[in-house]
Amino acid sequence: MPDRQELETFVAMAVLAPSSHNTQPWLFQIGKDCIRLIADRTRALPVNDPVDRELTISCGCALMNLRIVGAASGYGVRVSLFPEPNDEDVFADVEFSVAGNATLSALFDAIPNRHTYRKRFAEREVSKQKTNQLEASAARENAELCFVGDDATQVAVCNLVSEGDRLQWANPSWRRELAQWMHARRVGDGLALPGFAAPVARAIIRRFDIGKGVGASDAELFKHSPLIGVLTTDNDKARDWLTAGQALQRVLLTAAAAGLQVSYLNQPIELPELRTRLANIAGINGVPQILFRIGYPIDAPTKAPRRDTEDVIIA
Ligand SMILES: Cc1cc2nc3c(=O)[nH]c(=O)nc-3n(C[C@H](O)[C@H](O)[C@H](O)COP(=O)(O)O)c2cc1C
Repeated sequence: MPDRQELETFVAMAVLAPSSHNTQPWLFQIGKDCIRLIADRTRALPVNDPVDRELTISCGCALMNLRIVGAASGYGVRVSLFPEPNDEDVFADVEFSVAGNATLSALFDAIPNRHTYRKRFAEREVSKQKTNQLEASAARENAELCFVGDDATQVAVCNLVSEGDRLQWANPSWRRELAQWMHARRVGDGLALPGFAAPVARAIIRRFDIGKGVGASDAELFKHSPLIGVLTTDNDKARDWLTAGQALQRVLLTAAAAGLQVSYLNQPIELPELRTRLANIAGINGVPQILFRIGYPIDAPTKAPRRDTEDVIIA
């Protein structure tokens, strides 16, 4: 059985998961053979993510990492979601026992190699075999990954992303919240900038609506992406968001293991008025949770910072 020191190494891998604005909205409580995953709602984004949907998805990604790390260390992993009926902040208990799970352990090496890649992807197709693998990864976690197919649909979805950019940037509260999470790299969380640049960037973002320019540059990135994917779930409750997070991380790691990286275009999902339109345009039956572009990076992605493990483990 894992001892406390080994469980701390599991947490160190869990926190490499992606999170909205790199808020890292999670806490971990280490018990005997068990790690409890708890939401840290002090790190919520009330404007961008008013019902903590993305916060819960981010924690779902960390949960997937715990499952993979446990499996790769030779343990059987049992997950109980929302184990405390009266405390909705307790997202999961993860218990480690003797028997292992070979399928998930194969993704272990990809955990430190997955990064959000914000630049243009290489002009290189993704093979059918790889897209099938990505779809299967989502399906194994009870979610669906749909690729935005023909050119006309892609143009319509791309326009929706630019419209989302315009609407979000026109909202001073949204800009203020984004600015609050632009941090000097040494801080260990948020959207990292060199120390000298952070205050200037924050001031510009707070003051100026640059939505039109951001929309145009997102459209450029969109057009040069070999694949556009939408991850969907059957419903839209907290449990579905944890499902979406685990599926997202499984897709991201399957992609990273195949040399692919991902970048997000969630604006049309974050704005309720655009979310239904996205589902209609893309011909999706489920509820859209994440919209992303997928491709081969042209250089090594920049590593986003993380807080120290000791800051996320609670007594
Ligand atoms: C639920 C979720 C939503 C996200 N939404 C966006 C987004 O809309 N735009 C964006 O550029 N990145 C988005 N990200 C990526 C995060 O900014 C990124 O994970 C974080 O900065 C840490 O970087 P890393 O993924 O390279 O570790 C999202 C990540 C998650 C998990």
